[in-house]
Amino acid sequence: MASSIVEKFNSMEYGPAPEDASEVYRWLDAHSRTFGHYIDGAWTPMGVETKDAGFAAFPVKNPATGELLATVDSAGPIEVDRAVKAARAALPGWQALTGHQRARYLYALARQVQKHARRLAVLETLDNGKSIRESRDIDIPLVARHFYHHAGWAQLLDTEFPGYAPVGVVGQIIPWNFPLLILAWKVAPALAAGCTVVLKPAEYTPLTALALAEIAGEIGLPRGVFNVVNGDGRTGAAIVEHPGIDKIAFTGSTEVGRIIRKATANSSKKLSLELGGKSPFIVFDDADLDSAVEGLVDGIWLNQGQVCCAGSRLLVQERVAERLYDKIRARMRTLRIGSSLDKAIDIGAIVDQVQYDRIAALVRTGIAEGATCYQPEVTMPERGLFFKPTLLTGVAPGATVAQEEIFGPVLVSMTFRTPAEAVELANNTTYGLAASIWSENVNVALDVAAQVKAGVVWVNAINLFDAACGFGGYRESGYGREGGKEGMYEYLEPTWLRGESNAVPAAALPEPEAPGDDVAHAPEDFGIDRTVKQYIGGKQARPDSGYSYRVYGRDGHLVGTAPLGNRKDIRNAVEAARAAGKWAKTTAHGRAQVLYFLAENLAQRSAEIVAKLAAFTGSEQAAVELDQSIERTFAYAAWADKFEGTIHNPPARMVTLAMKEAVGVIGILAPDETPLLSLLSLILPAIAVGNTVVAVPSQRAATLMGDLYQVFDTSDLPGGVVNLVSGRADELGRTLAEHDDVDAIWSFRDEASAAMVKAASIGNLKQVFTHHGRAIDWFDPAQAEGRWFLRHATQVKNIWVPYGE
Ligand code: NAI
Repeated sequence: MASSIVEKFNSMEYGPAPEDASEVYRWLDAHSRTFGHYIDGAWTPMGVETKDAGFAAFPVKNPATGELLATVDSAGPIEVDRAVKAARAALPGWQALTGHQRARYLYALARQVQKHARRLAVLETLDNGKSIRESRDIDIPLVARHFYHHAGWAQLLDTEFPGYAPVGVVGQIIPWNFPLLILAWKVAPALAAGCTVVLKPAEYTPLTALALAEIAGEIGLPRGVFNVVNGDGRTGAAIVEHPGIDKIAFTGSTEVGRIIRKATANSSKKLSLELGGKSPFIVFDDADLDSAVEGLVDGIWLNQGQVCCAGSRLLVQERVAERLYDKIRARMRTLRIGSSLDKAIDIGAIVDQVQYDRIAALVRTGIAEGATCYQPEVTMPERGLFFKPTLLTGVAPGATVAQEEIFGPVLVSMTFRTPAEAVELANNTTYGLAASIWSENVNVALDVAAQVKAGVVWVNAINLFDAACGFGGYRESGYGREGGKEGMYEYLEPTWLRGESNAVPAAALPEPEAPGDDVAHAPEDFGIDRTVKQYIGGKQARPDSGYSYRVYGRDGHLVGTAPLGNRKDIRNAVEAARAAGKWAKTTAHGRAQVLYFLAENLAQRSAEIVAKLAAFTGSEQAAVELDQSIERTFAYAAWADKFEGTIHNPPARMVTLAMKEAVGVIGILAPDETPLLSLLSLILPAIAVGNTVVAVPSQRAATLMGDLYQVFDTSDLPGGVVNLVSGRADELGRTLAEHDDVDAIWSFRDEASAAMVKAASIGNLKQVFTHHGRAIDWFDPAQAEGRWFLRHATQVKNIWVPYGE
């Protein structure tokens, strides 16, 4: 008897369990299976001029069957312009609403998404090819959750974000892998903040965005607040380039992220980029291997592996590697691949032939580069874009498949021996989006979580998302966060930055001598008693060029000479800053102590410093500036141990630790005005939270750095935490922006300088923090001190930790 039950169990087969799609077909038919754009609350077809310019309506197909679902118009610059104008016109009215009124709209959207959940899930599955189980259980519930959560932020906007204003009109460009979910996590915070939106869905998957536009109309969302334009990269580019857009929020490939960074460099458009990943899935030898295998099913086979944070790189501790591989292969044999509408399948269809071919080509490259490929003998559908789950073992860390995002159901694996080696391998990528760590030892798991360079870390779990927990990457995975309070800041700006400035005009200093080869003099040549040098690695250093340039006071008299730094000096300074990285690991209390000591030493040398500063600013301002500098130093000593993280309680048996981590090495370009206070106002927040910096002081007042480094030297500031290099500020700024070992640039010179560093920093996609050359009152703590700076000095890492049995 017993054996026959086992036999039956083993021979049991799933029957097909297709979801009913008739409601979706009715909806498509009601639209005659053709869609225009949703602009200013109305369906708008593409214009003749757009057709003449080479834009064409495009087919939207079900990748599981090849069936044509609908034909969708493309938007050219004309439609984009119309949508931007509608969003601009809607902005004042939308912003004039109270937070509560906006909350009601967001709440209504959440309710409607729930009401239409079945239709939206089926539509998403037909359009994208993902399994109905995923769109029904993951995507659509999370869409509703995002609108609910952000209804809350709209309600609390005034109390939780005082001093901030909405950015304005936002252009949002999204990919095809989670079409409605990514839409929700972009649109919900934008609307909550008081922005209006022009959104472009991906050309493979526009249908749920159009369905949501229709829902927005049904709930009476004021027209123009949410607009949808369809099309491919050209339409995206028209949004990016439109001067009426205040911010671009993009999710997609790193390659297009770079294009957008470059295209927006010459503007003050705010930018957030959520790009690719090659996220490690780290299994220690004490892990529960069966759970880890199930984690992999969610990690790399969820959505056919077309997930930016997929656990695509398996790093397994050597001792258990073969055992784990056996278990993975056994599990792979039980994965069901088939009709996306079948409720009992695990793996659906790849979104498009182009992506399918790309995955196949990368697998071939992996094999050619020496990997062993395993694909299970599973039943495959006869037609449609289905790709077998694939395991590549024996992959070298430098292999193409270990470095490039495959964006398919392909797991690559390598082994490690020690936790240190695991961290090294995990970080051996240009990306930094996510990581999953499997160990029964919480000490090891959290220790590794802290060291992995990733915006999201899951302990004994993977691919969990929640609207309250920020999501976003480090390094070439982009910048900015979506979800949580940090995500709201992406759609807000300090109010003062938008309004008329009450800043003190920059002190008019004479141009420093244009340094050139003809001034090959050493500072001593002038018979001036002060010889200012560069400050690198805690030591005074002569400039590599051997040259200095003359610096004049505001009445035109020669104040001294400053070293003429060059690329080599910057490179040395960056190396010193990187080597001083353990500053981030000192306790916050320890950093505060150093800053207090620094303030004390500034006070002690005040007479001397005021006298020097007076040459540039006049003695009255100099005294105030020094006082204010001491106060600012105290402020950041205070902040050092108070700018802390948060704990989220997502709706799962998890806590999410939102840790604020230092960005790394920050390059600072300081302005000319209030030269001491502005320089310190930029250096201090950066180092208070553990960054190390390479700062380029005002070219016109660079001799001041001589006083500063003497203060640093006597304040127990470890060598390399602050490095000072003077010279032609833009040239040095460009070198910093191009340097791949610099993580962020703070550009507080003029607008042209900000544009230059943005364009030059596309290499490693470093973050650029700038006030776009707008006047800033460095004396006013509301503008020049506090959270705005500290937020840019940190990035949030969300670590998900399970609890309970
Ligand atoms: P993509 O980055 O080209 O497309 C994403 C979105 O950007 C789409 O809406 C597209 O129309 C738009 N776009 C394309 N070129 C643009 C431009 N010049 N200016 C403005 N918008 C533009 O990604 P694609 O080609 O669909 O996929 C290629 C690879 O990118 C994938 O294999 C995967 O590796 C990666 N990818 C990563 C995603 C992620 O979530 N991190 C999402 C989608 C793709």
